[in-house]
Amino acid sequence: MTMAGPLPATNNDRIVWDTYLAAYRLPVLTVADEVGTLAALSAHALDTAALAAQLSVNARALAIHLSLLAAMGFVERREGLWRATAEARRWLHPEAEGYCGPLIHGFRQSQPLHEQLLATLRTGEKAEGHASAAAEWERGDLPPELAVRITAFMNAHSQASARGVAMLPLFAEVRSLLDVGGGSGIFAIQLARAWPRLRATVMEIASVCAAADSYIAEAGVEGRVATQAVNMFTEAWPQGHDALFFSNVFHDWSEPTCQILADKAFAALPSGGRILLHEMLLDDDHCGPLATAAFSVLMLLGTRGRQYSFAELRGMLEQAGFTQVETCETGGGYYSLVSAVKP
Ligand SMILES: C[S@@+](CC[C@H](N)C(=O)[O-])C[C@H]1O[C@@H](n2cnc3c(N)ncnc32)[C@H](O)[C@@H]1O
Repeated sequence: MTMAGPLPATNNDRIVWDTYLAAYRLPVLTVADEVGTLAALSAHALDTAALAAQLSVNARALAIHLSLLAAMGFVERREGLWRATAEARRWLHPEAEGYCGPLIHGFRQSQPLHEQLLATLRTGEKAEGHASAAAEWERGDLPPELAVRITAFMNAHSQASARGVAMLPLFAEVRSLLDVGGGSGIFAIQLARAWPRLRATVMEIASVCAAADSYIAEAGVEGRVATQAVNMFTEAWPQGHDALFFSNVFHDWSEPTCQILADKAFAALPSGGRILLHEMLLDDDHCGPLATAAFSVLMLLGTRGRQYSFAELRGMLEQAGFTQVETCETGGGYYSLVSAVKP
């Protein structure tokens, strides 16, 4: 089985994602200026915990902010310590001759993201006023109107990357796929289209299953793609699938919750079964890539999670008992697929 394959040209939606995710860059910088991150890191090189204590902010939220500040070029990390770059000292130190504070704060009143990011940085809690269904997801209970709205959002969000995933040759060997937290079913739909012998079940919250049924019927794959209402936290998972697929699910949750999901996946799979995680991966040093670091800020605002690196996901999978952990880019966009096998 190989993870590599020709990269399709038709699913490159970076032009949309670059524009969408750019929205988080300026507010992360204005918040850093307001709480004094760059001034503190001009004076001393500090690790995340020491900087969080000095600024009186939440360390988990600060780590997510620092990743984006690093990806933008305002801070750098050496041997675990953060420091302000020469550019940041020149233009964003409040005592520098070139200080650009009045420029970056110029239109702050019209930027609700500044206040939302400031609040999450101080408390570590998801932002008031920012769209989020984290509490409903935790309960496994989503009102039908919200399920329809979020499912439409996720369908648009994932439709290009689902085409990229469906072209990966490893799916030639998959007969029965469980798409955990499968949203609109867009991955199951594209995989069923690409691989005529593959059947898929979209495991979701009941109201999301109802919404996904429409997408599946519209795609004309209802003979091979079904939905199954299961609360992934409180209910037993269906057995007998040879692959369990999670797209944009781990990034919604903390590391301990991701470990629970990895453990449940391990228990649900037969020997030789495969777990597949579709995520935008952070670099191992958490200093980029830019798109992933910005996406992580979106997760901070609306979920309990963040983007993870390959090393972090591999650690969770190996702790659950999986072996042969590998990753490949899925082509076009910014996503990767992490794959591992239950021995
Ligand atoms: C970020 S979306 C990802 C959707 C889809 N996999 C994709 O990439 O387009 C996370 C999904 O997890 C589902 N989910 C959240 N909590 C759940 C739970 N307790 N049980 C089952 N599914 C859940 C949500 O309904 C949502 O569709």
